[in-house]
Amino acid sequence: MEGAASAIVEVEGLSKTYPSGVEAVRGVDFEIRAGEVFGLIGPNGAGKSTTIGMLTTTVAPTRGRARLCGFDVAVDPLRARRASAVVCQGPSVDRALSGRMNMEVHARLWGVSHRAARIAEVVDAFGLSGILERPVATYSGGQRRRLEIARALLSNPRVLFLDEPTVGLDPRIRRELLDMLGLLRSAEEMSVLVTTHYLDEAERLCDRVAIMYQGRLAASGSPAQLRARLGQSIAELRVEQDPVKALAVLRAGGVAGHDAFQVGQTVTVPVHRGSPDDAAAELARLGIAVTGVSTRPPTLDDVYLQLTGERIAA
Ligand SMILES: Nc1ncnc2c1ncn2[C@@H]1O[C@H](COP(=O)(O)OP(=O)(O)O)[C@@H](O)[C@H]1O
Ligand SMILES: [Mg+2]
Repeated sequence: MEGAASAIVEVEGLSKTYPSGVEAVRGVDFEIRAGEVFGLIGPNGAGKSTTIGMLTTTVAPTRGRARLCGFDVAVDPLRARRASAVVCQGPSVDRALSGRMNMEVHARLWGVSHRAARIAEVVDAFGLSGILERPVATYSGGQRRRLEIARALLSNPRVLFLDEPTVGLDPRIRRELLDMLGLLRSAEEMSVLVTTHYLDEAERLCDRVAIMYQGRLAASGSPAQLRARLGQSIAELRVEQDPVKALAVLRAGGVAGHDAFQVGQTVTVPVHRGSPDDAAAELARLGIAVTGVSTRPPTLDDVYLQLTGERIAA
């Protein structure tokens, strides 16, 4: 497939102001191509769930537009909705029913053809056969998530929306679920939009990510592209006295560029040329006390911190 023709999700200037006056989403633009896993990363309140709500037709956009497989969510909501499936942030399965009944009900609701065969297929793919006859109330958090994702796939969606799929799961279960999502990504001809505030997860799972902050997209690209903005390595300096002045001094001396930033007592300097030790040496030369230095390759956390001035809550 090629270029623009294979964009499955197209979003232009999409905005949502709730009746309360909260501007949850303030004009976002992005595209998701066929088979691509796209991550929307950002802290609580960034507008991620509202964006998913608009793309799945449960929240009416205030401005802008969004199309799924060419269907505008405002003009042709039924067709747009049929192209996708969503796993919401909160629990959405019926706890009193068995896993199998949850699957059955969903498959009927969505008019899934060859129902039994399709259920068997996703049950197998998600390793659910051993627990399928039990009421969902007896499932662990990880098992319930697996059921929710498997159920969403019954209708063979072109796009799967996953809102914080791993939140609240313990690290081992989180990893299992990530592996499963990784498999899914290679097996199904499907695009995925996943929201998360775990940056390591985004790095591992996503072809491209967008950093969402206060209703806007601060940057987007592949994780490698975003990290490359900060060069090959970064030097992190802990400065006791006046970190704002230290940053200014480093910039004036040409050791730090415009992409250097300071948060609290820490000055972070992307190193594009010269040595990672240059910044510490420059401060020492000027008599500015540095209490700690580390150099390392940049991470998505650094990119996030530079763009937002905040650490993401993990
Ligand atoms: N139904 C709603 N009515 C009013 N405000 C809302 C509603 N849903 C979300 N918000 C507000 O919109 C902003 C974005 O929320 P949300 O989209 O849930 O962000 P995220 O999923 O990134 O945490 C927050 O300030 C939130 O309080
Ligand atoms: Mg949310």
